[in-house]
Amino acid sequence: MERVTLTLADVAGMEDVKRRLQLAFLGPLKNPEMMRMYGKSLRGGLLLYGPPGCGKTYVARATAGELGAKFIPIGISDVLDMYIGESERKLHEIFELARRNRPTVIFFDEIDALGRKRSLMRGSAGTTMVNQFLSELDGVQADNDGVFVLAATNHPWDVDSALRRPGRLDRTLLVLPPDLPARVKLIRDNLAFRPTRDIQADKIGHSTEGFSGADLAHLCESAAELALQDSLSTGRPRPIDMNDFRTAMKEIKPSVNTWFDTARNYAQFANEGGAYDDLAAYLRSRKMM
Ligand SMILES: Nc1ncnc2c1ncn2[C@@H]1O[C@H](COP(=O)(O)OP(=O)(O)O)[C@@H](O)[C@H]1O
Ligand SMILES: [Mg+2]
Repeated sequence: MERVTLTLADVAGMEDVKRRLQLAFLGPLKNPEMMRMYGKSLRGGLLLYGPPGCGKTYVARATAGELGAKFIPIGISDVLDMYIGESERKLHEIFELARRNRPTVIFFDEIDALGRKRSLMRGSAGTTMVNQFLSELDGVQADNDGVFVLAATNHPWDVDSALRRPGRLDRTLLVLPPDLPARVKLIRDNLAFRPTRDIQADKIGHSTEGFSGADLAHLCESAAELALQDSLSTGRPRPIDMNDFRTAMKEIKPSVNTWFDTARNYAQFANEGGAYDDLAAYLRSRKMM
C-alpha cells in the first residue's frame, strides 16, 4: 500500500485522458449529491487500456493522488494461484485491506488474466475466482464506500465480459502513447539525474512521435550508454549530447506498432456498443485505419 503524492497536475500532456478521467470517474466521485439527484449510482470502476508502456499505471497512481487515496497495486498474476481457494482468499484480503484503510484505490494490473485463466482452467476453479472478484467488487457482503477499483489491460478484448457489465468495470479509458508535452517531460525526467550538454528536449520530442514512455526511457538509456562508453575509453567523463541521441535514434523504433495492428482488428470488426470508439477515432486520425 502506497501513499501517493502524484496528482493529475503532475501528468504532462495527455489532456484528453485527463478530461475523460474527470468526466467519467473523478467528477461523479467528487459530486455524490449531484449523482444521487440524477438517480445515478456511484458504483463501478474504471478500466484503463492501451499499448504497453504508455502510462496506465502512472495515470492510475495519479488518480489515487487526486482522490487523496492510498494506492494498492495488484498484479493479477500474483493473485492467481493454482491452489483452489487460495486466490479467492487473497482477493478477499486485498479488498478487506482496502476497506480498512479507505479511501483507497485498488489497482488491478493485467486484469485480462482473470478471464483468460477462467477459460484455461477447465471446470469451476477459474469461475470461482471471477465470481469472488465480482462479489467483492459488487460489495455483496461489505460496504465499498471509499474503495475505488481501477484496472488495466493491454488486451481489453480478452477481459471477461462479466467484469465489464454496468456497475462493474463499466467505464473505459484509452491511454495512448505520450503526446508532445508528455514526451518532452519524460525526456527531461529521464535526463535529470545524468550529465548532459545542450540537449534540446523539444527537438527530441518532435522526432519521437509514437514512442511509448518505455521507449523514451530506453532511448535516453542508450544515449547515456554511448556517452559512458566514450568516457570509459578516454578516461574523462563527457556529458550526453544531441549526437548521442541522433545515434541512438537509429537503433530504437516505437514498440507499440504490433499492439496497434491487433487493436485495429477489434476497432474495425468487434466494436460492439462502441466500446472502441476512442481507439477507432485515434487510428483514423493517424490514418492507421
Ligand atoms: N504521460 C506521461 N508522463 C510521465 N511519465 C509517463 C507518461 N506516460 C508514461 N510515463 C512513464 O513511462 C513508463 C511506463 O509507464 P507505465 O505507467 O508503467 O505504462 P503501462 O502501465 O501503460 O504499461 C513509466 O516510467 C511512466 O512513469
Ligand atoms: Mg503498467
